[in-house]
Amino acid sequence: MDQKQDYANTILTQLESTETLNSLEIAKSLSINHQDLVGCLLQLESANYIKTEGLKQDQIILTDEGNTILNSQSGEYEIYQKIPELGISMVDLQKLFGIEQVQKVKQEQGEKKEKQVEDPKKKQFDLGFGNAKKMGYIKMDKGLITKVANDLPDKIKLELQQLNTIKLGSQQAKLLIERKLAMIQTIKYFEIKKGIKYANKFREQFAALTTEQLLNGEWKECDYKSINLNAEGEKISMGNLHPLLKVRKQFSQILIGLGFEEMPTNQFVESSFWNFDALFQPQKHPARDAHDTFFCSDPELSEEVDINLRDKVKSMHQTGGVGSIGYQYEWSHEEARKNILRTHTTAVSSKMLYRIAQLYKEKGYFPKKYFSIDKVFRNETLDATHLAEFHQIEGIVIDKNASLGQLMGIIREFFRQIGINKLWFKPTYNPYTEPSMEIYGYHPVLKKKVEIGNSGVFRPEMLAPLGIPEDVNVIAWGLGLERPTMIYYDIRDIRTMVGPEVKVETVRSNAFCVFESK
Ligand code: PHE
Repeated sequence: MDQKQDYANTILTQLESTETLNSLEIAKSLSINHQDLVGCLLQLESANYIKTEGLKQDQIILTDEGNTILNSQSGEYEIYQKIPELGISMVDLQKLFGIEQVQKVKQEQGEKKEKQVEDPKKKQFDLGFGNAKKMGYIKMDKGLITKVANDLPDKIKLELQQLNTIKLGSQQAKLLIERKLAMIQTIKYFEIKKGIKYANKFREQFAALTTEQLLNGEWKECDYKSINLNAEGEKISMGNLHPLLKVRKQFSQILIGLGFEEMPTNQFVESSFWNFDALFQPQKHPARDAHDTFFCSDPELSEEVDINLRDKVKSMHQTGGVGSIGYQYEWSHEEARKNILRTHTTAVSSKMLYRIAQLYKEKGYFPKKYFSIDKVFRNETLDATHLAEFHQIEGIVIDKNASLGQLMGIIREFFRQIGINKLWFKPTYNPYTEPSMEIYGYHPVLKKKVEIGNSGVFRPEMLAPLGIPEDVNVIAWGLGLERPTMIYYDIRDIRTMVGPEVKVETVRSNAFCVFESK
């Protein structure tokens, strides 16, 4: 039997003849730490052998100083003992305690400032001396210090020895506390009574029935722990969406609500053709540099696009059309075939526009609204707000009546639905849109305008080679997903949202994203 069971049995036996027990007293009688008894009490209680009630009690205990005295003697008694039979002068007594007479000398010389020099030994001595007089150990007569009587006991030490007999709140206790020799400590203990399954001997309770117990018949004699049907099961962590996905979901719901249909975006590797050339972005454009774009090495080149389309794009770049003179340079077929990680979701839109143009040939014109939300990649330097991969949200409206005014209207409605009411448009340049507008919104936390998107009317130089009829307009806008997500979930550093520093717990605990429209 282990020690815990010994303790348990002591408690149970004692309870046989007593109504209530006090855990402090049991600990004392077993000469163990009260804390060591607590575990045993919990075990007995959970098996219903006993019932406990937690109580508090104030106790007087020794301070470090009190303990030092207990192990040697009090200051006043030390002084008392040092006084010889025939008495002693103050100066000589102090000498016995190693106190120099510097002070006196200096005072006599009138150096008042130096009076403040304090010898800690002196302070200690003065305190003890005062107490020794007060307690009737010594007396002073005409400069001679003598003992009041011989063989007096060290009263303070005696008191400290019998600390547990001193009543809390008594004058004696107060004095000891005042002298910082003792202090009050609140201790927690238990009052113990019999439980509903009380027995005078503890039988170990098993948590589970084992094959062994079944085979050897031991189970008939064994006690088993009852099952706690109220215990909550362990939480299963599954099915949690990353904050970006929550915001993405909310954005797509808003766009679906506005009548937009999602485009297929399941292609991170794209040819330069769809990402740049089809967007009338010249091959010498700085964005096409390796500093901004990730190029693929294997396969380095993409499959051929329709030769007809390719030639139309090529001639638009080289010599122009639809009233434009193009860029007037030698367009490279090879350059257009280079595989890259798409740098914007407009690559998805350009491909979609080509597909729509094909459909127009079969079915004739119909207006259409599309959106996409997915990952794009740029060769950026990473910092608190930039990653090399991020998400873009893009919307396009293909409509004969689409106008710049309509674009501004849609953008306003879209941002209104995510709670951004104040918008500003600023003219900008994109190779594929004209006019182009940067979109600025008011940031309620930063209290200033921040850029939140880009937009424009697709150029005829882009639309014509794709086969979009001349009288059909396409308006579009795009924005990042990360910034609104960071604002919504109050994420300060993008690297704590994406990458190895993401805390799974934050992903679990983040609420759904529901934008409040104003
Ligand atoms: N593609 C642009 C970007 O990467 C956004 C944009 C989309 C601009 C559609 C105009 C029209 O920022």
